Amino acid sequence: MKKLLLIVFFALLGSALFLEYKRLTIKPWPATHFEDVVEHFKYGSIGAEVDGFPYAIWRELPTIFAGELPQGYAGFGFLGEEGRDLPIGVSVRRIGVDRVGFNCATCHVSTYEIDGARHLVLGAPNNALDIQAYIRFLTGAAQDPRLTPDAVIEAAEANGRPLGWFDRLVLRRVVFPRLAEEVATLEARLAWMDGRPPHGPGRTDAGNFWRERWGLNPSGDSRVGVVDFPSVWNQRLRTDGWFHWDGNNRSLDERNISAALAGGAADWLLERRSIERVSDWLMAFPSPDWPLPLDTDRVAQGRAIYEREGCDTCHDPGGPSLGQVTSLAILGTDPQRTDLFDAEMVSYFSDVGEKYSWRFHNYRTTDGYANMPLDGIWMRAPYLHNGSVPTLADLLSPPDMRPVAFFRGCTVLDTDRVGFTCETGFELDTTLTGNGNGGHLWGTDLPDAEKALLLDYLKSL
Ligand code: HEC
Ligand code: HEC
Repeated sequence: MKKLLLIVFFALLGSALFLEYKRLTIKPWPATHFEDVVEHFKYGSIGAEVDGFPYAIWRELPTIFAGELPQGYAGFGFLGEEGRDLPIGVSVRRIGVDRVGFNCATCHVSTYEIDGARHLVLGAPNNALDIQAYIRFLTGAAQDPRLTPDAVIEAAEANGRPLGWFDRLVLRRVVFPRLAEEVATLEARLAWMDGRPPHGPGRTDAGNFWRERWGLNPSGDSRVGVVDFPSVWNQRLRTDGWFHWDGNNRSLDERNISAALAGGAADWLLERRSIERVSDWLMAFPSPDWPLPLDTDRVAQGRAIYEREGCDTCHDPGGPSLGQVTSLAILGTDPQRTDLFDAEMVSYFSDVGEKYSWRFHNYRTTDGYANMPLDGIWMRAPYLHNGSVPTLADLLSPPDMRPVAFFRGCTVLDTDRVGFTCETGFELDTTLTGNGNGGHLWGTDLPDAEKALLLDYLKSL
């Protein structure tokens, strides 16, 4: 009898261990399903947890590195919500072990503050989120002698979520030994960042991540593809034109998939239905209204100036040039981003998704930047594709009057000049490669009174 019990015991133990082994090594677990599309947008998975940081460690880092992260991940601009463990834009999924990943809301949800109150705006560019600083923190932390399995176990306990014996074993034997390797790979993949101006909050490099992926050795040169996060509301207004700052693609599908791949998804784990769900919802998701009362008379007068100056031809839905590209020769804004997407890049893009039905074939090169609708433009500061001009009032000033350097990453609304008031944090230097604040001269020579009317009209969009 005893013998039989022992056999049963070992058989059970064996199969439990086998199942755990499978859990740690086999395919990703299905993503959490959210009934509500807004919840799905904020917290759902797009398949970007593949190379994600192990969640068990990630959530204790703010405790272990409390000196560096006094406000936790909010210090990088991640947005927390009452009653939620994870910030907006971060999903968790089991791929071997639980890992964190980005989703569409990471870069496309933001806040503004007025009269001391904070307002969340879905679809707005997260102008406070410093992804580069966040990634550098993670790679640094992973190599820091203070980060040990014991430190994680202790922090978890202190935070009221003690790890069971098996999770501790996995942490010591699986997660930590792999971490060093994973982080070394990540660091090598991001080495190109070191030779370039910092992105700062609200921006990323749209080209060099791809060049690195394709082995084009971005570390070997100093070309820059830095861009400001765009807004993503009212996508229906944009479907007839070209997407991305430089208008390099007009396929909605490719735009969505490339967004997910750039956000960290792997082609084999693309959550296509999940991504389409977000994309469909964004079609008609409205831009936010200016939060203060507007004088309708002044708005109408501003509209007349807007039309007289020809702004509508490029920027209005239904305007003849909306969604088309204005060449740099006419526009005069910083050339780096559009120059980076050259013929070589396009040829590599057409191999993306080679083994899949969604394989890319719509990328093209352009010689400028796309004319986009100005809906909710008050919530899209700083301005231009590289976020080099802090306010609308500055954009309506001649380039030599625009700030040469300014702070980015704040959320207090400047209701006067229309942008965000910012006196500390990351200083953007417009003299660095890719940060040029010149060009787009429309409206810059208007009399001040007309500029003020035009500004009132722009607030109403
Ligand atoms: C890491 C930040 C980040 C994540 C994550 C991200 N995006 Fe974006 N998104 C950007 C940036 C930056 C651009 C501009 C790229 C360019 O034009 O060079 C962009 C462009 C877009 C655009 C085009 C806007 C336009 O007017 O041309 C849409 C729409 C969009 N993203 C939707 C999504 C969706 C849907 C997801 C999730 C599948 C997503 N994004 C994930 C940063 C992000
Ligand atoms: C010939 C087309 C054209 C005309 C005319 C034009 N713009 Fe633009 N506008 C653009 C393009 C292209 C960009 C993007 C440039 C860049 O990012 O480098 C842009 C950018 C902008 C932006 C910043 C958008 C953002 O998200 O950062 C604002 C605001 C703007 N224009 C307002 C105006 C106003 C106001 C007028 C008229 C006084 C005007 N534009 C006239 C093509 C035009």
